[in-house]
This record gives sequence, C-alpha cells and structure tokens, in this order.
Amino acid sequence: DMKNTVINSQIQAFLSDPDMIASLANISSVIYNGYTDLNWAGFYFVKGGQLIVGPFQGKPACSPIPFTKGVCGRCYREKAVQRIDDVLAVKDHIACDSASRSELCVPVIVNGEMIMEIDLDSPIPSRFDDDFENEMLKAADDIASAFLQHQWHMD
Ligand code: SME
Repeated sequence: DMKNTVINSQIQAFLSDPDMIASLANISSVIYNGYTDLNWAGFYFVKGGQLIVGPFQGKPACSPIPFTKGVCGRCYREKAVQRIDDVLAVKDHIACDSASRSELCVPVIVNGEMIMEIDLDSPIPSRFDDDFENEMLKAADDIASAFLQHQWHMD
C-alpha cells in the first residue's frame, strides 16, 4: 500500500548515507514513527560472539544478549524470522519493556553470514502480519545490499 511505499522509499534514501550508524539510526526512526503501535524499533549487531544493541527508538534495551537467550538469540541460531504473536507465551522472551506483547525479529544476512537483526516490539498482541514481515524482509535485504555497497563492517 501507499504507506509501505513511503516508508520503503525513506529507508532507501537513508541507505545512501555512507555512515552505517547514521543510516541505521535514521532507519530505526523511520520504522518507529512510520508504523503505528510500536514501542521499540531498532537493531542488534552480531559482535564478539553475542548480540549488541545498535541504533534504536524506544526505551533502553537489554544488551548484550547471548545467542542462547531470548527471541533475538533464537533468530540468530535459526537464521530465520521470529514472529511472536504473544510474547507472554514465550518462556524465553526477554522483556526489555514490560509493555511489549508481540515481537518481530528479522535477520540481516550478507554473503551467507548473519551480521545484524532488525527487532520490533509492539504493545498490541499479534501486531505483525505477513505484509509487515515482508516489508521488513525487504528492508533487511536492502540493508545487506547497502552494507556491501558502502563496504560497512561490524568492528
Ligand atoms: N525481546 C527480545 C529482546 C530485545 S528487546 O525486545 C528490544 C528477546 O526476547 O530477545
């Protein structure tokens, strides 16, 4: 739809920024402010054998997160999208903000290697649908392309 198109083009525009942190900081803001009912939107970097919080919008986040823990840890282990309709039903869920009720965690993979995750939290149960997931998969793909194009690196 129109809203997705606008958000996607804003993400594209910020991905032309050669500075990775500046680019991802603005993208976290585009996502957080562009969609309704989010209480956290941002990135976790795969760094030094764990997940380290990157640019984000929302309340202060848990960091570091070991690969063995939480929804974000499972996203890393499985290298697959984690879409959680009810975080209270997930034993392993790490609550950074007690308001969170659903979560979407999407891997960013460059040359077969997972370099970061996009993580989104919502105070509404089942906030994330197929359409939202597909938009974030596209964003992850675009971030991976920019990473190569700008020769970004994680350390
Ligand atoms: N809920 C995540 C932790 C990250 S915060 O949501 C920002 C998890 O269970 O891994």
